[in-house]
Amino acid sequence: MNDDRRLARILGDPSRRTFLGLTGAAMALAFTTNLADPWTARSGGGDGYPFQLGVASGDPLPHGVILWTRLAVRPLEPLGGMPYGRIKVDWEIAEDPRFARRAIRGSTWAAPEYGHSVHVDVRGLRPCREYFYRFRACGEISPVGRTKTAPAVRSSPGRLLMAFASCASWPDGFYTAYRHLANENADVILHLGDYIYEYGIAASGGTRNTPVPDQLRVQCDTLDRYRIQYGLYKSDPDLQAAHQSAPWIVTWDDHEVLDNWAGFAGPGGEVTPEDFLVIRANGFRAYWENLPMRLPRPVDGPDARIYRRFTFGDLAEFNVLDTRQYRDDQACGDGPRHDCAERLDPARTMLGAQQEKWLLDGLGATGARWNVLAQQIAMCQLDDDPAPAQRLSMDMWDGYRAAKERVINGMAERRVSNPVVLTGDFHNNVAGELKTNFDDPASPTVGVEFIGTSISSGGNGSAAIGLPAGGSDPVNPHIRFSSYQRGYVACDITRARWQTDFKVVPYVDRVGAPVSTRGSLVALNGVPGLQVL
Ligand SMILES: [Fe+2]
Repeated sequence: MNDDRRLARILGDPSRRTFLGLTGAAMALAFTTNLADPWTARSGGGDGYPFQLGVASGDPLPHGVILWTRLAVRPLEPLGGMPYGRIKVDWEIAEDPRFARRAIRGSTWAAPEYGHSVHVDVRGLRPCREYFYRFRACGEISPVGRTKTAPAVRSSPGRLLMAFASCASWPDGFYTAYRHLANENADVILHLGDYIYEYGIAASGGTRNTPVPDQLRVQCDTLDRYRIQYGLYKSDPDLQAAHQSAPWIVTWDDHEVLDNWAGFAGPGGEVTPEDFLVIRANGFRAYWENLPMRLPRPVDGPDARIYRRFTFGDLAEFNVLDTRQYRDDQACGDGPRHDCAERLDPARTMLGAQQEKWLLDGLGATGARWNVLAQQIAMCQLDDDPAPAQRLSMDMWDGYRAAKERVINGMAERRVSNPVVLTGDFHNNVAGELKTNFDDPASPTVGVEFIGTSISSGGNGSAAIGLPAGGSDPVNPHIRFSSYQRGYVACDITRARWQTDFKVVPYVDRVGAPVSTRGSLVALNGVPGLQVL
């Protein structure tokens, strides 16, 4: 959940603050890709073209990567207009976009049981290499995607370009930020959830003012309904460009299922607990069908494990978390709350016992310089009441204080090298410092948190709201930057420092917005906390 007015409340009246202007040069839109390949020119899409949902790659390993596509000739139908039968799909991957060097080829089946999705787990690749891939099916050739393998486990990479994004409500605006993300030349892109929103979509298509058919009007519940929601979202050419540009590592938040679901707890009301588990399973299944992930582990009852770890040599390790599936229900009825004693209950869990142990064990054994928690909800304390009283969100880590302290203190006790928490959900850009006690600004800083804004959720946003990089918020003194604009986050990670650039677009209610860097903050190796450029 997210309330787009939260930041305005957290930061109080904008008039009492000073603001920096846009710090980066506005860049012209570059709506061309550098994947110039004569094969793609042959297949321009249109009626009967089975690759209308694009291609993607993900979960990069030193010697392997997942290649994804989903066949659909009519994406807004449950099976994408495909026949109820298996379809042979050829794939190939090579070191050049003309598929001349070291190509590996294979064939697989797109099956109706899985919405005609294809997940090829390619092995035998070389570490830290750029590759290009494409598919063939039904006599047509897919667009070409670029991907990259992870560095070798025992290597010492000098640099990693990573970008992350979250929260892309289709009816809230255009995906211009995804288009700019595609031009980042990232080694890897993380998506931290709210890839779709489950809500029904108005006939007008919301802010996009693009008519959408009746079958999208109701909220997602059945597998078919989730599939057509993905069909709509993934038809967007800017999203497709972002997928084609780099491998993605994804995790879900709440809206891939239902707003603010928690473990086995759904929204209540007319949705019974039994119905909720069915809806949740449908959401999980549709998510996997539509994203470039490895097959889930064997089913564990109604659960689907997606927390997992990716290692980029000794430079960075990414602990990709699931803060929805195993958490206790939100305290005090959810929402922003003053004085909620329940949130302090030490028995409350955010990650569940198994994932929490997996995380802390991994952090205890890591040899990486930068240790990343790629996850959904804000870990820094975010008090949105400008008065001395605290009002905190019961949906975020603030509503699970003991669990938060187990993670932050657990990292401090293990002397984890350079912890970096990456966060979605909040629809605002925020940079903050992780404290052992957020109520005591003098308490030790253990690491940093970068919260990325939304791609489109919440509409245009406002350049007038925010805290300039290096500013200080009297209510939340550990927060060093914020902005309420749409965009994504680009991170340049080297052995000496981690630089985060918050990239923003001025509007999403029409196409063609330029991108600029609103704030840049740096973490130095071995120096807890944030520096401002
Ligand atoms: Fe969101």
